[in-house]
Amino acid sequence: MAILTGGGDCPGLNAVIRAVAKDAFHCDIDVLGVEDGYQGLIENRFRQLQPSDLDGILRRGGTILGSNNRANPSRFAVGKNSDGTPIFRDLTEDCLRHIRSRKIEAMVIIGGDGTMTSAAWFAKQGLAVVGVPKTIDNDIMGSEITFGFQTAVDTATDALDKVRTTADSHHRAMVVEVMGRNAGWIALHSGIASGSDIILMPEIPFDLKVLARVIQERERRGMRSTLLCVSEGARPQGGQQVVAKVDPTSPDPIRLGGVGKFVAEALEKETGVESRYCVLGHVQRGGVPCAFDRVLSTLLGNHSMNLLREGKVGRMVAWQKGRLTDVDLEEPAGKQRLVPEDHALVGAARAVGTSFGD
Ligand code: F6P
Repeated sequence: MAILTGGGDCPGLNAVIRAVAKDAFHCDIDVLGVEDGYQGLIENRFRQLQPSDLDGILRRGGTILGSNNRANPSRFAVGKNSDGTPIFRDLTEDCLRHIRSRKIEAMVIIGGDGTMTSAAWFAKQGLAVVGVPKTIDNDIMGSEITFGFQTAVDTATDALDKVRTTADSHHRAMVVEVMGRNAGWIALHSGIASGSDIILMPEIPFDLKVLARVIQERERRGMRSTLLCVSEGARPQGGQQVVAKVDPTSPDPIRLGGVGKFVAEALEKETGVESRYCVLGHVQRGGVPCAFDRVLSTLLGNHSMNLLREGKVGRMVAWQKGRLTDVDLEEPAGKQRLVPEDHALVGAARAVGTSFGD
């Protein structure tokens, strides 16, 4: 069998690899690791895993196999046209040839929505594939929780707590921009955990005038600072998300980023309160997985092996309504699990006085 980690990395990937490979070794199954996600599958780069490769990786961040969030086998950028636009080719048949030449019968593919879409195609070609959902964004349709998310929330909360102490010292408004793509889960959880005064998320467009009023009111009441936890995908009412970069070779070409700067500068101008911003960025994707993610990764990895054993393939392991389950591999394709505006956590935050800027 083979294991592949695709898409942006997150803490807990190694814990899944460990759970899957240890189980396979107990059953005398040879395990190949595909290097660098689908890029390695396209380029026929595999590595035979040994029990010693798994030593100590439960708590190690990243993925020992490497990953890639640009390589889509069915639409792979092989070069550029004279006008600079990428030339794409469908390399799925090449991948399948590499898989067959290695006598791989089953694969555990760990990744996000894009990775699962390609995994579903391989399953349709007769390969026994089970998917394991991963992302710090927690936005995969079909599973209510993904590993990596809790670690990212802990990292963001720690940063927000630290920023609060300096904000208090200087009577400032401090904006912390967190990741999450188009979903506000990281902002919502870390914003609540840190007692942020304002949480901005893509699902609830904000009004700068409302934010300015919140800051001025806090000043009037003698509060020393205002802490804003801002999701990278947040946008003003009637406005657009702030895009940092467009990568046309990537299946998800938009890289968000910059809304923290926009909000801090606009608010300083509007309120006269000195404002600063900081962007947490990939710090949230790195480092050791927290205990919760190590446990969840082990559970999901184990469930993927159980599904393979039962012959229940073409499925993605999932967590729904407090229990382990599985869904069709195509379930997450092209979808994002966003925060419902009436989510209990939004209500709980509002009840403790947190503003969503609406
Ligand atoms: O999907 C995970 C994520 O970290 C998002 O939160 C973020 O928008 C994106 O990936 C960043 O991607 P890259 O690593 O390509 O900058």
